[in-house]
Amino acid sequence: MATNWTPDSWTQYEARQLPEYADKAALDRATAELAHYPPLVFAGEARALTADLAQVADGKAFLLQGGDCAESFAEFHPNNIRDTFRVILQMAVVLTYASKLPVVKVGRMAGQFAKPRSANMEEVNGVSLPSYRGDIVNDIAFDAASREPDPDRMIRAYNQAAATLNLLRAFAQGGYANLHQVHAWTLDFMGRSPWAAQYQAVAERIGDALDFMAACGINPQTVPQLNGTNFYTSHEALLLPYEQAFTRRDSLTGDWYDTSAHMLWIGDRTRFEGSAHVEYLRGIGNPIGLKCGPSLEPDALLRLLDTLDPARTPGRITLITRYGHDKIEKHLPSLVRAVKREGRPVVWSCDPMHGNVVKAANGYKTRPFERILAEVRGFFAVHRAEGTHGGGIHAEMTGQNVTECTGGAVDVTEQSLADRYHTHCDPRLNAGQSIELAFLLAEMLNQEMREREKAAA
Ligand code: PEP
Ligand code: CO
Repeated sequence: MATNWTPDSWTQYEARQLPEYADKAALDRATAELAHYPPLVFAGEARALTADLAQVADGKAFLLQGGDCAESFAEFHPNNIRDTFRVILQMAVVLTYASKLPVVKVGRMAGQFAKPRSANMEEVNGVSLPSYRGDIVNDIAFDAASREPDPDRMIRAYNQAAATLNLLRAFAQGGYANLHQVHAWTLDFMGRSPWAAQYQAVAERIGDALDFMAACGINPQTVPQLNGTNFYTSHEALLLPYEQAFTRRDSLTGDWYDTSAHMLWIGDRTRFEGSAHVEYLRGIGNPIGLKCGPSLEPDALLRLLDTLDPARTPGRITLITRYGHDKIEKHLPSLVRAVKREGRPVVWSCDPMHGNVVKAANGYKTRPFERILAEVRGFFAVHRAEGTHGGGIHAEMTGQNVTECTGGAVDVTEQSLADRYHTHCDPRLNAGQSIELAFLLAEMLNQEMREREKAAA
């Protein structure tokens, strides 16, 4: 357990990106109420995820983390939860097949509400108001009352997270995640996609493998693993008063856990040395993600690892790199070498989203699909060259047919961005782009696997 740490010791450190609540008494009332609410996850589940991630760190599994940039109260609907869950499962089946490795599935779901912003204020037509910081903090509407941080939003966010997680648990274990079913969806989806021919061969081979297994008597009735799946939740641990309210002692081990999600991560803007967010996260037992952007030097990363993972627990730390398609091959090698030299058992995961935002001519914030792919390619190239395992992917995506990222085989153009641009924050991959990304990733993983086999032979 961390020394000199308490659930509120972060208040003694520099906290960036936290809202200023005008009514402190209302904030205290809301967090006191949340502190009595049931935890969303059990510490044992967080430990199970650490163990799964340890397999990823060791090159024996792959991590797929994905979901909304920001969940919103407006988009809260069972169909949205179902569709994002389904696309994550579809991606996972393709990746499992290609890599011959189990895929650890973690949603940016059931709690991903708070957003860090590059500017404190937003200006529109000469009017300046506080930035929108996610539905757990304030409202996206551009008027003074909406932008005022309201602590009661934390209670609404908790309730939405609880209902979302309840449905995810039902889907994961109740038969919806049946492997044959998931593959049937992919085939159906491909049947409706003009670009599918390119991946038909892989899809057919997955189908053949399932048929072969069924002929051997391995089916969802005989093997329960085919009928359900483990699905974990995660979000950025940004709004520390909320996270503190869910920090509970595990009754089995006596250790502290943040029971608002299985995995929590620290954003690129809040991972600086001396940060309140780093202080908070070092004390909880959950697996932790750390976003690594271009400003992170290898020495600073090693110091952060000393703070966050002094015991060097495999699976405790996932380094989520987010450089941009043109920067990854320049920045990543020095971090990989430093971490490898120190023998730190981390998961390397690629976030190809946050370094690839561009503004379209018509003002929309977008991400070109080819840049996303280029960053993923660069990520695997670096790990191949360094002899390390490119262990995961972190994507902002939705199961809906939105038009937020340009490109992909069903080409979303800059002109069509306006058609279905629904995100509350960053542009997400739509269902088709997500599945296409999985097939392209599958080719890269397949290559990694073949090279490993060659090296072992
Ligand atoms: C995010 O993941 O939504 C995010 C804000 O990322 P980063 O901290 O890497 O900018
Ligand atoms: Co984002």
